[in-house]
Amino acid sequence: MTKRILITSAIPYINGIKHLGNLVGSQLPADLFARYKRARGHDVLFLCATDEHGTPAELAAAKAGKPVAEYCADMHETQASIAEGFRLSFDHFGRSSSPQNQALTQHFAGKLADQGLIQEVDEKQVYSHADGRFLPDRYIEGTCPNCGYDGARGDQCENCTKQLDPTDLIDPRSAVSGSTDLEVRDTRHLYLRQSALRDDLNTWIDGKVDWPILTTSIAKKWLNDGDGLQDRGITRDLDWGVPVKKGSDDWPGMEGKVFYVWFDAPIEYIACAQEWEDAGKGSDWQSWWRTDKGAEDVAYYQFMGKDNVPFHTLSFPATILGSGEPWKLVDYIKSFNYLNYDGGQFSTSKGRGVFMDQALELLPADYWRWWLLSHAPETSDTEFTWETFQQDTNKDLSDVLGNFVSRVTKFCRSKFGEAVPEGGTLDAKADELVQNLQARLEAYQTHMDNVDVRKSAAELRAIWVLGNEYLQTAEPWAVYKSDPETAAATIRLSLNLIALYGVLSAPFIPDASAKILAAFGLEDCAWPGDVATALGTLAAGSAFTVPDNLFSKISDDDRDDWKEKFAGART
Ligand code: MF3
Ligand code: ZN
Repeated sequence: MTKRILITSAIPYINGIKHLGNLVGSQLPADLFARYKRARGHDVLFLCATDEHGTPAELAAAKAGKPVAEYCADMHETQASIAEGFRLSFDHFGRSSSPQNQALTQHFAGKLADQGLIQEVDEKQVYSHADGRFLPDRYIEGTCPNCGYDGARGDQCENCTKQLDPTDLIDPRSAVSGSTDLEVRDTRHLYLRQSALRDDLNTWIDGKVDWPILTTSIAKKWLNDGDGLQDRGITRDLDWGVPVKKGSDDWPGMEGKVFYVWFDAPIEYIACAQEWEDAGKGSDWQSWWRTDKGAEDVAYYQFMGKDNVPFHTLSFPATILGSGEPWKLVDYIKSFNYLNYDGGQFSTSKGRGVFMDQALELLPADYWRWWLLSHAPETSDTEFTWETFQQDTNKDLSDVLGNFVSRVTKFCRSKFGEAVPEGGTLDAKADELVQNLQARLEAYQTHMDNVDVRKSAAELRAIWVLGNEYLQTAEPWAVYKSDPETAAATIRLSLNLIALYGVLSAPFIPDASAKILAAFGLEDCAWPGDVATALGTLAAGSAFTVPDNLFSKISDDDRDDWKEKFAGART
């Protein structure tokens, strides 16, 4: 039953530090799931990487005044260290610019060509005389033909979200130099004949009855609405990217061109496993990815924001199915709506909202992890406000969890010393607690197995609440005066409950959990089979230390300061 589990998070663009909306839409829930499945005894491979090609990378490098390769190497390190700060437990954090991905991308293109799924198309692209180059995608800006917004980009209008081609723009200008000395020139590109795979994709998606509605509805819309699945250009006239080759052979007519970023980026999910092995972190990477090499017993989960769904339900599966090779397809796609920021949208280009590095400067990772996951935008968009962030973390983490831990351990220290007290027997209140906990534990596991993030958080919170309620009715501080033995039994149970919280909470708040477990000398504590047994883990006499204040409260002053500090744009 302990299936192997492959987990990937959408790979973040290299063009800057991500905001909290990005984090909660992919990496963070993927980490929650990876930690949970590891704790349940599964063999987990959790992969993520930076998405380093395409015009966003080139433009960001130019803005930073660095050669693009150097910019990407530096930003990869930056993103890796911030990921560590958030305790994202990737088994490997790769790079889509890796030699492994370059070879694999060229390999897939070759296979697709062999299967007759690549078409060479002569088309028109905008060429800039001033810049001496073609201007694909975001290299060109102008007025949107759909809504009239004058900052539309060549690939999409940010204002009305319409997908565009650079030649659609009205009054186009170069995003590099601002030049309007542009000309439409002929150039040849490769197209992936996705439309030939429509039936296969439809059948495949129809089989995914357990997928979230958000995922299947987006996939079905793109598959069957209007023109349906469009063939898609997979090459660009750029210098930075994976050079176009057919396997390891040159591709006549494609000299000097690279693959489109959205072609090579998802292939990095596969190449990343190879990077993981090549980095000496594991072996037999193909057993995770090739169904002819053992991957048929792997369950593969992907995590992403809703804007990424078409690429993962259609384009990438088209690459895999079209290759005719036995690569593993995804089993479950978890997608997310957007997290908004204080009455508007988080925006990288506008510098609006809280970015990952800034968040860690304010508070430890657990605060953010808890709030973001317990408000994950699953069924609709949700909103971050400083007020709710303060209220919810103060309540859940300080008043409920932190307070229970501190009351129990401090009371024990003052009355019985820093060891689990012996003596006494448990009463009916304790039996009731155990029963309630058992039911909640099972619900928690079900929600986690189903990747229902908010429901999981709510259940964990309810598990914490049960401890406080028990303490409130058992009143060991009052009972102690007349019946210290019974108070000892209550405290023994409560200390065990804290240790259980340490285990159950770890997927959400790994640092606080580690602190709790360390206080009981339980670095490596197993996931509970049944609650009654788990609450006997700490025998009478075992020593503990009172953990330092686990969570301090966010004051009104802090809240107001932060709100003001983040009201403008990041520069
Ligand atoms: N970089 C893209 C984004 O941030 C996600 C790429 S996911 C992958 O929206 F499929 F390409 F890997
Ligand atoms: Zn528009």
